[in-house]
Amino acid sequence: MRKKIVAGNWKMNKNFQDAEELLDELSEQIEKGQKSSKVEVIVCPPSLYTEMALDLSHSEDEERLFGVGAQDVSANGQGAYTGEISADMLSSMGVEYCIVGHSERRKYFKETDEQVAAKVDKLLAEGITPIVCVGELLEDREAGRHFDVIRTQVEKGLFGLKQLDFVKVIIAYEPVWAIGTGKTATPDQAQEVHAFIRGLVEEKYGKEVARNLSILYGGSCNAKNAAELFAQNDVDGGLIGGAALKAEDFVTIINSFK
Ligand code: 13P
Repeated sequence: MRKKIVAGNWKMNKNFQDAEELLDELSEQIEKGQKSSKVEVIVCPPSLYTEMALDLSHSEDEERLFGVGAQDVSANGQGAYTGEISADMLSSMGVEYCIVGHSERRKYFKETDEQVAAKVDKLLAEGITPIVCVGELLEDREAGRHFDVIRTQVEKGLFGLKQLDFVKVIIAYEPVWAIGTGKTATPDQAQEVHAFIRGLVEEKYGKEVARNLSILYGGSCNAKNAAELFAQNDVDGGLIGGAALKAEDFVTIINSFK
């Protein structure tokens, strides 16, 4: 069975004190049982706050409340790469997940599918689960080429993997036109693309692998629309930006599965 997952991508938000407050609140609410136990919750704060997030990710009696992820990783192993953070550094801290290929990295940092593939390799070698983002621009959708764009991103970013590695990956479909715009994909639009991605995976790795792959939706997913999106057959949860910055909204999203 594939996992139901809600992951929060904080992006470049919150100073240390505000981050601590949000994590505290989140831990408290999850611990109080406001989270359905069948959902895997992941928090991806700026890497600078990893240690604090890890400290607050467990209750006092050591129950794990959420997994901690990073928002990016270097495509290189180690050495003279000023400002970069390696997969080995992340795993040595206890980070379990890492977002790769977010559209903001593709747009502002010119990240390519080849770099996405290299980052995925580095993460898997360190036992970290990559959350690989794919999604089309508004002009791609308007020109009716969104499926082609997504196919290319999935194939180049992930299909170099052997099956035993591919099964460890999570995919997030994030239409770029929906990110931070308040313009969510309709449940039908999300379902259509998620089913398309699952179909690509089935062709490449077979039915069983496709069935077990978690595909998350991201892009203006919030406390109000999450339930409808998560009710779709091929939507296994969400990658949440803005709404992950408020504990109450994030917990409502976590509890939005039927
Ligand atoms: P928003 O939820 O703010 O639209 O961001 C989505 C996103 O980019 C998550 O990675």
